[in-house]
Amino acid sequence: MSTYLVTGVAGFIGSHTARALLDQGHRVVGIDNLNDYYDVRLKDHRLDLLLGGEGRRVGRSASESFFQSGDWSHGTFSFAAIDVIDAESITNLFGKYSFDAVINLAARAGVRYSVEHPEVYASTNVSGAVNLLQAMQKAGVKKYILASSSSLYAGAETPFRESFDVNRPLSPYAASKLGAEAMAAAFHHLHGIDVSVLRYFTVYGPASRPDMSPLRFLKWIDEGTPITLYGDGSQTRDFTYIDDIVAGTIAALRPLGYEVINLGGGNEPLAIRDMIAGFEKELGKKALIDEQPFHAGDMKSTQADVSKAADLLNWAPKISPAEGFKRTVEWYLANRSWLKDIEL
Ligand SMILES: NC(=O)c1ccc[n+]([C@@H]2O[C@H](COP(=O)([O-])OP(=O)(O)OC[C@H]3O[C@@H](n4cnc5c(N)ncnc54)[C@H](O)[C@@H]3O)[C@@H](O)[C@H]2O)c1
Repeated sequence: MSTYLVTGVAGFIGSHTARALLDQGHRVVGIDNLNDYYDVRLKDHRLDLLLGGEGRRVGRSASESFFQSGDWSHGTFSFAAIDVIDAESITNLFGKYSFDAVINLAARAGVRYSVEHPEVYASTNVSGAVNLLQAMQKAGVKKYILASSSSLYAGAETPFRESFDVNRPLSPYAASKLGAEAMAAAFHHLHGIDVSVLRYFTVYGPASRPDMSPLRFLKWIDEGTPITLYGDGSQTRDFTYIDDIVAGTIAALRPLGYEVINLGGGNEPLAIRDMIAGFEKELGKKALIDEQPFHAGDMKSTQADVSKAADLLNWAPKISPAEGFKRTVEWYLANRSWLKDIEL
């Protein structure tokens, strides 16, 4: 049994990663600051499932978490509401537990919001990551996984390869991920911390983020609300199903030195319109579309070259978009009664 620190554990990818590690018999210590960048009841839902509930212990509003105070645990899972920028709490945490690895998924995500609030991205995504690396160095924790992003490739030709020059990011979000990657490289060089940087590509699945198109579009189609679509929907994304991302993340716990690895769908990238059609089919409902001008900060298309993940991690995505959309809709329908109150 290993002990892992998962930051951002109430988040979409963090909660699924923690679930898989627990199912594999490991101990998981999870932290999250439960911020209200998006409706915190989704974070509560995910945490409640990890804490042995049925996903129904949620706060009273979009900004008030049920799990904000106190220490929570269930079986080999423990949770505390800790901010990664709070260096003292991070140090205390490393004094309390002996971690085999740190999986750093805590971040401000989302390109558009980063344009308005770059300072939040710099503090959580870069300074927060440095706090973790310093605590690891002092405590002698040797393995670090950093969630990075396909946003670093914005403006490049597809398919995106890890060897591309990404030194001119197009958004504060991408810049903050580049900063976090660079800090991890420095700690690898100076202190021998073994680093896997994972550049994720448009992750979707059950309990995904309400600021990303899959959950928004699904809810809007179901509720008969017009979908706000930026552009004509021909923009493509390399959608990656959450279980594939989790499998790749856990595979990346092996010693690698310092490596940057794409984790993407590896299929033909899918047009946003095709995702909408997939949801329409599963729901048996037709989408209403409100077309808006294409956003300057958005990417026209993303596509991962995942050959490095195949070589180093023996990893390949397994879930097709059709299967992934079906599973996502199944989760949505099973949780529709409380999802109707979630703010988008
Ligand atoms: N979902 C995707 O498609 C995608 C794509 C590329 C990269 N990523 C990266 O993967 C990671 C996880 O993303 P996600 O989709 O699960 O997002 P998410 O927002 O659902 O999860 C991130 C979690 O981190 C927490 N957090 C934010 N700031 C914090 C802080 N200062 N201290 C402690 N916790 C904090 C949030 O409350 C949230 O629960 C992020 O690093 C994100 O940038 C995600």
